[in-house]
Amino acid sequence: MKKVAILIPASPNLAFFSQIAASALALRRLDWQRWEPTLYAFLGGEPDFAALEAWRPYLRDTMMTFVPASLSDAHRFYYAQIDSLFRCAPVDADVLVRMDADTLAVQNFEDVLDYVAATNSVAGVTAHFPFPTWPGVTSRQSWIGLAHLLTGRSVGFEHAYSLPPADAPQDEWATPFYLNDGVVLIAGSVFADVVERYLKLRPNLMDHLPDPYFSGQIALALATAQAGVHSCALPMRYNFPNDELAEARYPEELDNVCIFHYLRTHAFDRQKIFASVSAYHEFLELPLTGANKVFQSCVSRLIGSEYPFAATDAAPAARPKTVQAPRDPAIARAPPKQHRDMSAEDLCAASAASERGDLLRDLVDISRAAFGFFVDQFTYTVNYPWVAGRLENLPAGSRVLDLGAGLSPLPLWLADRGVLVDTVDKHPITRTLPPAEDWNGWGFFDYRQLHPNVASHHCAIAEFTPVCEVDAVYSICVLTHMPRATREDTLWRCHGWLRSGGRLLLTIDLIPATDFLWNRSEGKEVEPLLVHGTIDELLRQLTSAGFQLNESRVLRTPRRSRTGLLLIDCTAT
Ligand SMILES: C[S@@+](CC[C@H](N)C(=O)[O-])C[C@H]1O[C@@H](n2cnc3c(N)ncnc32)[C@H](O)[C@@H]1O
Repeated sequence: MKKVAILIPASPNLAFFSQIAASALALRRLDWQRWEPTLYAFLGGEPDFAALEAWRPYLRDTMMTFVPASLSDAHRFYYAQIDSLFRCAPVDADVLVRMDADTLAVQNFEDVLDYVAATNSVAGVTAHFPFPTWPGVTSRQSWIGLAHLLTGRSVGFEHAYSLPPADAPQDEWATPFYLNDGVVLIAGSVFADVVERYLKLRPNLMDHLPDPYFSGQIALALATAQAGVHSCALPMRYNFPNDELAEARYPEELDNVCIFHYLRTHAFDRQKIFASVSAYHEFLELPLTGANKVFQSCVSRLIGSEYPFAATDAAPAARPKTVQAPRDPAIARAPPKQHRDMSAEDLCAASAASERGDLLRDLVDISRAAFGFFVDQFTYTVNYPWVAGRLENLPAGSRVLDLGAGLSPLPLWLADRGVLVDTVDKHPITRTLPPAEDWNGWGFFDYRQLHPNVASHHCAIAEFTPVCEVDAVYSICVLTHMPRATREDTLWRCHGWLRSGGRLLLTIDLIPATDFLWNRSEGKEVEPLLVHGTIDELLRQLTSAGFQLNESRVLRTPRRSRTGLLLIDCTAT
């Protein structure tokens, strides 16, 4: 068995003992196959010995370290215990997880532990918002200044804060790799290197921040960048906050939560819910909604409908009466929209933000004329013009493939320019003109009905062979809908079909604010997230299939969009 050390900073009082006891119990009840978890609590401040005595029976398997009082006196914002967990962590763990006391694992997360160990990574969910900055200084300026001052280096802005407002400009919500420190996973192989840097940076940051409380998260970000270790932005399910913005933005993640972070206190008091029998039952009976409701049912399922800690009774806890976790989506979903056309207001906003407003307008006109709608998803206002812009110099008579064409204006736009296009789509629904109200971007459409330069093939990509070599292949929002093995096979096929020097253009949906490829298709999971893969893994698949990368651009939280977007431009070598 591989070892995972779970490191929790805490104060030695009733509230924290009860939260840690709940975590310990929940961890024991998860079905561990390959990993052996051990819980370590780092306790700073004056202990409440009566509470310790009462809770000791439920903390028997927890390694407890009491931080010296002098450290607690010297460090504000609980950094005595937080820094100590890094300083005194076990040396033999394969993965170490820094977890806040108000987090609770509700599903086994061995898959992500395997991934972090195998990739020698630091991984976690990107912080929700920018940290507070000095007046007149932007978040980006703060990052650049702090990185330069404390590490002598520049920082990249490849990531995005995970809870941006709907219209947040990409640029302002870009961040370096910067995690919410409720749950941070660090591979044992890189832990010492990252932590040595963290421990130097963290105290030095205090005087440079208007709110030094954030020094820990920022220090970990700078230390990870400085150490040059592999980083991975995980989906929300691995640190899901009981927060309304998160439940609205990440409904699929809420359906699959592995670790809850019950930090928001408006619906219940996180310090009390596990601390007494009456508070526990009161919590289980609260009429909650959204993420709080899912958290409540997970607690009930895992910890039980009976309070498991008779704090004055050292007898082992009775087996809980369990209740089933909800199977239906946690939040009632709006029924799918029938009419799929983008509103004039949204188009106007997209056009203003577009690098190629001219192409976007042409594509909207073509789509509306052909299908009666322009798909009402912001990512399409980016990816269609992006592909068109890269193919606009193809001479008439060039041959191009559109894989998973669905109902897209691009084959018609290319055909109008004299390009010969083959489209491939295997969808069981055939869309026959005239357009119907319920059409969306999915389905087989025979483009020959509208333009003689397009030939449409109603089959899977794996069953298709072009009649001759092609100059370019593109595929828009299709590759994430297929399993990893089919995706790999498709890339090899594309390489085989392209002439040497031919272009492959891919636009790929991502789980927002993460490094992970979107793993759902028409509402169903294609395969588990970690099997489906990450941006890095896809780029590696491309290189091994014989492609040279010209550009890969990541839009992690595009405006008003459910998914992130990866744009890839490469050449067949
Ligand atoms: C999200 S729609 C994208 C449609 C289109 N590319 C666009 O830009 O509007 C995905 C389309 O890919 C098709 N598709 C997915 N996997 C496929 C495969 N293995 N072979 C052929 N078509 C596939 C689906 O049938 C669907 O019509």
